[in-house]
Amino acid sequence: MKARLRSAKRLVTLQSNLLDRNILLEEMVYAVTHDMRTPLIAMEMTGKQAQEGIYGDLPESYRKILKTTEGSLKDLLSMVDNLLRVARYEAGKIERNTEPVDLHKICQECLDELRPIYEKKSLNVKLLQDTLEVKLTIVRQDLKRVIFNLLDNAIKFTPARGSITLSVQRVQDKVIVGVQDSGRGVRAEEAKELFNRFARASGARHAPGTGLGLYMCRRIIEAHGGIIDCIPRKSEGEGTGTTFSFMLPVQN
Ligand SMILES: Nc1ncnc2c1ncn2[C@@H]1O[C@H](COP(=O)(O)OP(=O)(O)OP(=O)(O)O)[C@@H](O)[C@H]1O
Ligand SMILES: [Mg+2]
Repeated sequence: MKARLRSAKRLVTLQSNLLDRNILLEEMVYAVTHDMRTPLIAMEMTGKQAQEGIYGDLPESYRKILKTTEGSLKDLLSMVDNLLRVARYEAGKIERNTEPVDLHKICQECLDELRPIYEKKSLNVKLLQDTLEVKLTIVRQDLKRVIFNLLDNAIKFTPARGSITLSVQRVQDKVIVGVQDSGRGVRAEEAKELFNRFARASGARHAPGTGLGLYMCRRIIEAHGGIIDCIPRKSEGEGTGTTFSFMLPVQN
């Protein structure tokens, strides 16, 4: 009996030590991520200035290299920003916005920013909406992050010449935003898991990413009283596509 009690106590101490280490590790990751932001922005700016010819004329081959580097730096910065945003939400520091957020404008902005990427893949991208003005009490940048991440995934996991539809639907006091694609799809047994931190589907390892995007989307949507979900592919074969959608309560 005493031996059992001793083992149980040892287990509790071990668990508490592990928890402390985990918190310390998370804090370190966030601190390093935060400190990476400034030099990354500086590198991005220097590259842009070099492309604009501020440091003198550059041969075309150098310009091309700088353009590629700019793209990689943007990816890295977006990863850093996502991590920092997740850290704020995890710490329960959620800002509320009482200003009306124009959902239509945000959808259009995301599509405009991603256009060079989806045009390069010849994807047919459509925006369908049955409503124009929707008021949401959410920080504009956070709503944009969610829509941007869902579109970014759809573009990444849909082969060239496929199709993507971004839809906005008003149902009574809720708005439903969906991103449907004709890509590789998600298996039913993996669908729920993908919203966890660092989760990636088994067939997605080749694509760039950290597995943080959907987790961040879930944290943002749930913190605002909404739900985010994924409809897995219908059949076992790839190519039937996926729909990711979220619902948020509307004020007006
Ligand atoms: N539209 C989609 N089609 C197929 N699989 C998807 C789609 N969206 C997400 N997934 C799967 O869900 C995983 C998690 O997505 P998530 O956005 O969290 O991470 P990521 O895109 O891999 O990386 P990150 O967003 O951090 O750059 C992806 O790696 C992929 O396996
Ligand atoms: Mg992603």
